[in-house]
Amino acid sequence: PIVLIVVLAISFLLGSLPSGVIIGKCIYHVDIREVGSGNIGTTNAIRAFGKKGGYLVFLMDFGKGLLAGLLAMLITSAFASAEGMFTTGDAMAMALAGGCLGHVFSPWLGFHGGKGIAVSVGALFFVFGPVPALIELASFIVVVVLTKYISAGSITAAVLCPFMSFYVFWGDWFAAIVCALVGILVVWAHRANISRLRAGTENRIGSSKRG
Ligand code: G3P
Repeated sequence: PIVLIVVLAISFLLGSLPSGVIIGKCIYHVDIREVGSGNIGTTNAIRAFGKKGGYLVFLMDFGKGLLAGLLAMLITSAFASAEGMFTTGDAMAMALAGGCLGHVFSPWLGFHGGKGIAVSVGALFFVFGPVPALIELASFIVVVVLTKYISAGSITAAVLCPFMSFYVFWGDWFAAIVCALVGILVVWAHRANISRLRAGTENRIGSSKRG
């Protein structure tokens, strides 16, 4: 249905705004892609700009996802009953997929981008609802605290995502599969981190090595 495509397109555009690059260029006059891991997300923003700048990038990326989820909810409540061909879950899943795809394959950065964690967590508060989203967040925090690797926490949350998708959307297979695929996309986006973790060369919290 056209409404799902509209939700996907709007979310993609929102997700594609490269917060890390924008904040780096406008406030710090630094290209985040030239620092640390070269990634445009929160972890590398902390390396490149310090904690304040990192949190700002997180808030913007998280906000993009939150806004995509919110818009999807508003759009479906306006059109769902008229169309009757898709569920709110389907539209939510499109918001998550669009936001994450836009962030990872940003057209403003030549279809390169980030790894999709902050934007996905933002969207998940609407897509999965607050409790499963908080479980995702908690899995991230516990693993980061235990391992001191941000990427290990991110990968854990991404691996949990397909399981959570089927739990939340059991019976609504379109939504379940789309959200599960987003988890797989985020794991794929962390492939360089996975290689570094396996090689024992991943940056721990506080380190600023180029990865
Ligand atoms: O989600 C991104 C984080 O897990 C890793 O970031 O900059 O160390 O590759 P980075």
